[in-house]
Amino acid sequence: MVLNQIEELASRAFDELGKVTNSRELEAWRVHYLGRKSNLTQILRSLATLPLGERCGVGARANEVKEAFEASLAEKKKSLEQGLPLSLQRESLDVTLPGQQVLLGRLHPTTQILDEICDIFSGMGFQVVEGPEAEWEYYNFEALNMPVDHPARDMFATLWIDFETEAGDRPMLLRTHTSPVQIRVMEKSHPPIRVIAPGRVYRYEATDATHEWMFYQVEGLAVDKNITLADLKGTLFEFARRLFGGGRKVRFRCDYFPFVEPGVEVAIDCLVCGGAGCRLCGNSGWIEILGAGMVHPEVLRRVDIDPEVYSGFAFGMGVERIPMLRYGIDDIRLFYSNDLRFLRQF
Ligand code: DAH
Repeated sequence: MVLNQIEELASRAFDELGKVTNSRELEAWRVHYLGRKSNLTQILRSLATLPLGERCGVGARANEVKEAFEASLAEKKKSLEQGLPLSLQRESLDVTLPGQQVLLGRLHPTTQILDEICDIFSGMGFQVVEGPEAEWEYYNFEALNMPVDHPARDMFATLWIDFETEAGDRPMLLRTHTSPVQIRVMEKSHPPIRVIAPGRVYRYEATDATHEWMFYQVEGLAVDKNITLADLKGTLFEFARRLFGGGRKVRFRCDYFPFVEPGVEVAIDCLVCGGAGCRLCGNSGWIEILGAGMVHPEVLRRVDIDPEVYSGFAFGMGVERIPMLRYGIDDIRLFYSNDLRFLRQF
């Protein structure tokens, strides 16, 4: 009877000892199984009350178990003590090992220049807005004074999208310029308006060193009472100087765009030869950077802005041109071919 009790006790004790993970638990275990009030101590104390025949066997076994408990306790104590420096050792750090190189990302050259352009115009009171890249034909052409048969549509090699609504066909395309954002802004807000709209545009074109089928433009629009061509000139002069440096000369010449009247083409004196003529500027001394003009009265009327009361100027520029000029990059295709050897230079 008592022997069975001892065996059960032993197996329970060893079980629990296995689960002990720190010295506090170990002390509790010691008190429970080896302390003065423990079952084992009580059995040893009451040996004298047992019948003589049982006394010997029980005494011997109880002492054996007691010794086994004490030995296991000592062993566990040692392993817990050693366990601490061991885990510390495993987690130790060799500060003399060479570190892992951290690869720094960087902003794409186009993003960098867009940030610069947006900063300059924000500083002049323009708000930055965006429009969709998949656009209705209406916004890309029609509302910009280019009805279906207008020959100016030929200036924009267009990527069309098949799109059917319940009401039937409504032509959609990938916007060929950022000018449709002008219409979207004027439809939704009233003058005074001062916005710029950066974004991607698409042309159905064979690519070469100066043509990509996707590139970036920044559109600008200001509509208010008494806005004149002089405001356009002042704004773009200031822009060119801030972007390209203080001494820049800026040239305005007549040009044609259906959504402005008059329309102008803006050029700066060549960054390489300073106007003397070189390969970059095709010996003209000038480099075209954008198209602009006074918003056509017809365009204003369409968005319910009275051209008798309000006037506005607009401009649109290609973005990649600028880093190409600045860094002497001779192929636009480098921008979006994701060659890190190129991109890491900026
Ligand atoms: N959208 C024209 C283009 O892609 C550029 C342009 C010209 C924008 C004159 C304008 C503008 O806002 O007034 O060629």
